[in-house]
Amino acid sequence: MRTDSGQIFRLEDYRESDYLIPEVELTFLLDPQETLVRARLVVERRENVAAVTALELDGDGLNLSSLAIDGTPATGTAFEATPDRLIIARPPSAKRFTLDIETRLQPSRNKALMGLYVSSDVFCTQCEAEGFRRITYFLDRPDILSVYTVRIEADKKAAPLLLSNGNPVESGKLDGGRHFAVWHDPHPKPSYLFALVAGDLGMVSDSFTTASGRKVALGVYVEHGNETRAAYAMDALKRSMRWDEERFGREYDLDVFNLVAVSDFNMGAMENKGLNIFNDKYVLADADTATDLDFANIEAIIGHEYFHNWTGNRITCRDWFQLCLKEGLTVFRDHEFSADQRSRPVKRIAEVRGLRAHQFPEDQGPLAHPVRPRRYREINNFYTATVYEKGSEVVRMIRTILGEDAFCAGMDLYFERHDGQAVTIEDFIKAFEDASDRDLAQFALWYHQAGTPHVAISSRYDAGEKSFTIEIEQSVPPTPSESRKRLMHIPLAFGLVGADGQDMVFDAVEGAVVEDGVIHVRKRHHSVRFTGVPARPVLSINRGFSAPITLSGETSTDDRLFLARHDSDPFSRWQSLNTLFTEALLSATRTVRGGDEPLFASELVGAAVSLAANDALEPAFRALALTLPGEPDVAREIGANIDPDAIHTARIALLKAIAREGRATFDALYAGLHDNAPFMPDAAGAGRRALRNVLLEYLALADENPAPAKRQFDAADNMTDRAAALTVLANHFGETQEARAALSAFEARYADDPLVLDKWFQIQASVPAPETVALMRSLMEHPHFSITNPNRVRALIGTFAMGNQRAFHSADGSGYRLVADTVLALEAHNPQVAARLATAFRSWRSLETGRRDEARRVLSDIAKHENLSRDLADIVERTLA
Ligand code: BES
Ligand code: ZN
Repeated sequence: MRTDSGQIFRLEDYRESDYLIPEVELTFLLDPQETLVRARLVVERRENVAAVTALELDGDGLNLSSLAIDGTPATGTAFEATPDRLIIARPPSAKRFTLDIETRLQPSRNKALMGLYVSSDVFCTQCEAEGFRRITYFLDRPDILSVYTVRIEADKKAAPLLLSNGNPVESGKLDGGRHFAVWHDPHPKPSYLFALVAGDLGMVSDSFTTASGRKVALGVYVEHGNETRAAYAMDALKRSMRWDEERFGREYDLDVFNLVAVSDFNMGAMENKGLNIFNDKYVLADADTATDLDFANIEAIIGHEYFHNWTGNRITCRDWFQLCLKEGLTVFRDHEFSADQRSRPVKRIAEVRGLRAHQFPEDQGPLAHPVRPRRYREINNFYTATVYEKGSEVVRMIRTILGEDAFCAGMDLYFERHDGQAVTIEDFIKAFEDASDRDLAQFALWYHQAGTPHVAISSRYDAGEKSFTIEIEQSVPPTPSESRKRLMHIPLAFGLVGADGQDMVFDAVEGAVVEDGVIHVRKRHHSVRFTGVPARPVLSINRGFSAPITLSGETSTDDRLFLARHDSDPFSRWQSLNTLFTEALLSATRTVRGGDEPLFASELVGAAVSLAANDALEPAFRALALTLPGEPDVAREIGANIDPDAIHTARIALLKAIAREGRATFDALYAGLHDNAPFMPDAAGAGRRALRNVLLEYLALADENPAPAKRQFDAADNMTDRAAALTVLANHFGETQEARAALSAFEARYADDPLVLDKWFQIQASVPAPETVALMRSLMEHPHFSITNPNRVRALIGTFAMGNQRAFHSADGSGYRLVADTVLALEAHNPQVAARLATAFRSWRSLETGRRDEARRVLSDIAKHENLSRDLADIVERTLA
C-alpha cells in the first residue's frame, strides 16, 4: 500500500515532461501468481531539452526484473530503481532511444483492484488515474500519448479470450498449452486508457455500421451463463453509437468495440480505448433480476463510457486537474442521451435530485472544491459529484447562454481544433468563445470557484404602471481556503405565468440582459423591471434548473400551488410542489422537536392527491411529484443543529397524512396501473411501475397494514415490483411475519446471484430504524458478505452510511463506529474504496452537538492510525479541518 507522503500537487506547478514516449510495446506472460511484463518504450527527448537530462519514470509497488537501454542490459549505477520510481540519471544523448523494462506482478494478490488484477478467474486491468504505474515504469500522466502494441500470452484453457485495446492483429498457439494474441491501437493514447482482459468468458456479438460505412464488430463479454442478461447492454451500446453520430457528429474509429463485465470493480465502468471494462452491475439485466433503475443506469453508463471515445480519449486531459474536461462533459452527453431515449422532463428532475443529494452537500461541507481543482493530494479523491455533476451543469449552462446552434458550433470547433491532443478547460472554453464571439470570462468562474451560489428573489407588481419588478441578489458562501468569492454569471430561465397558465408577454425589460426567456445575472444585485405586463403574473424562476444554485424568496403557498398546477415548465411544476413539501417538513420537524404532533395543510395534501390522479401527466412524472423530499433533503435545508430522528418522524407523519387523504384515489389508481403484459424495460412501462410503487407505500401506510406489499411481493413477475414491495415491508413492517418471510424467500431465491443478493443487503441496510445498526453487525457476519468485493461493501456499508441518515447518525455513535471499523478494515487492501466510504462523514458539523461530538471522536480515531493510505488520510484530514 502507498502510504502518505503528505505531498500536495498543484495546478500552477504543471510543466511539460522532458521526454515523450511515442511508442509502447507490451508483452504479458500471464499467470495469476506471477506475471512477467516486458515493456519496450521508445523514448524521445523533447526539442530544447538538453541531452542526457535525467529521465524519471513513475512506479507504484513495482518489482524490476531487468532493464536494458538501447538493447544493452543496464547494470550498477546506470539506473536507480525503487518500487515507486525508476531513475536513469544519464540517458543516451540521442534524440530517441529505447528502454526494455521487465517487471513481475502478482495479479491474484492485488485486492486494490488497480493495475492488473484477477476477478473471478479473469485477468483485467484498471489504470485510471494512476494504475498503469502498477504494471510498468512509465511517464504515467495523461499528456504522454503513445501508440500501443500489446502481446498477451496465457494458458489457453484458463484464458481462451485475450483482449486489449485497438484492433486484433495476430493470434496463435504456443507450447505447453499456451496461446497468444497481439493487439494494435493506432490512436495515440494516454496510459490510463490502456487495458487488458484475459479469461474464459461468454460472448454476445453484433455489429454496427457507422454513418460513413465502417463496419464495427461489437462484443459484450460476461460470465458463462449470463449471455441473455447482456442483450440490453448490447442494445444500449448500438443506440449510443447511433446517437453520438446524430447529435454530435461523432463516429467510432476502430474495427472492433469490446465491452467486458467483471464482478470486482472499484467504480462503475471504465472507457479504455476500444475495450471498455464494466462493473457487471452496469451490464447484466433481465426482468427477473434487474429493476427499472438498473436498466436506466446500464443505458446511461454504457452511453457514458462510449461517449468518452471522443470526449476523453480522442481529446484527453493535459493533467488530472482537468478531469472535468472529460467527465463533466461526458456526463452532460450521457444526460442528453438518456433525455432523448426517455422522458426529458423526468430525466431532468432525476438529475436535479441527484445533484442536490450528492453535489450540494459536498459543495457546502469540508470537502468542497472547484469543478476544476487547483490542488490535490490524491487524485482518486477528486472523482467527485462536483467534478462530474456540477461539471455537467456547467456545460449545460454554456448551452443555455449560447443557445443550441452556437453551442453545437463550439463543440464542433473543439473537436476539430483539439483532436489528438491533451488539453485544458481554458482550451474548451476558448472554443465556445471563438465559435460564438462571446466573452465567457466571468462565466468561467463556475470552473474555478467552489460553493453553491445563492440567489435571493423578491418581486412586486404595480397595477397602475403595469410593471413587474424582480429584485435579484446573488451571493456565494465561503468554502475551505476560499473565503472571498467573486460575482458569478448565473443564467436564470424564467416565465411570467398568467392566470391561464400561459407565459405573459411584456413590452420591455430593463435592469439585466434578458434573452430567450433567460435573465443573465452578472452583478450582485439586479432590479429587473418588465413593463407592459397586463396583470399580476406568478414568477416561475430557474426553470429547468437552468443554474445549479439555491434559491430563496417569499413566494406564497398559493402561488406555489398555482405553479404546481399550471406552470408550462414541468420541472418547475415538480419543484413548486417539492418546495411546499420541504417547507411543510421543516415546520413539522420543529414541531416534533418541540414535543408535539405535526399537522399538515389540507391544500398541500389535496394537491398531492390530485396530482397523482391527473392522467394528463405522464406516470413517471406523477411518481416523482408524489415522492417526498428525502430525510437528507430536509437536513440540508435545516443546515445546522440537525436531529435526524425528528426529521424521520416528521416525514413519516406527512407520508401518512397523504396516505389517509388519498386512500380511495390511490387504491383505484394502483389497481388500474397493473400491467398484464410481460415486463418490458421501456420508459413508459417503467413510469407506470414507478407510480404504482410510490402508491404502494402510501397504501400500506394508510391502514398501517403490510398486506398490499405482501400481495405485490408474492405476485410480482419482475424485480422492480418485487424489490419495491420488499422495501415497503422492511421499512415499515420490519417486525412482522410478512416482512421476515419475504426477506428470507428473497434470500433463498437469489442466493447464487450476487447482484440480486446485493439488493437484499441494500434493502436491509437502508431500514431507517435504530435497530439497523445491530442488524448490520450480523449481516457483516453473513457467509455471503465479503469485504474484498466493492459491490457487496457498497450494498451493505455504503447504503447504510450514505442512504440511511437515521441509523448512520444514531445518537449513541454506534453507526459511526460501524462505518469507521469498516473503513479501517477496507483500507488495508483497497484504499480507494475506503476513502470513498469515509466521505459519509462529511456533513458531521451540521448535526446537533451530541452526534457532532461522537462523529468528531470517531474521525479523530481514524486520523490517529499510523500509516494511513494517502487516499484515506486526505479525506479524513480535510473532513476534520
Ligand atoms: N473514467 C471513469 C472511471 C473512473 C473513475 C476511473 C474513477 C478511475 C477513477 C468513467 O468514465 C466514469 O466516469 N465512470 C462512472 C460512471 C459514470 C456513468 C458517471 C463511475 O465509474 O462511477
Ligand atoms: Zn467518465
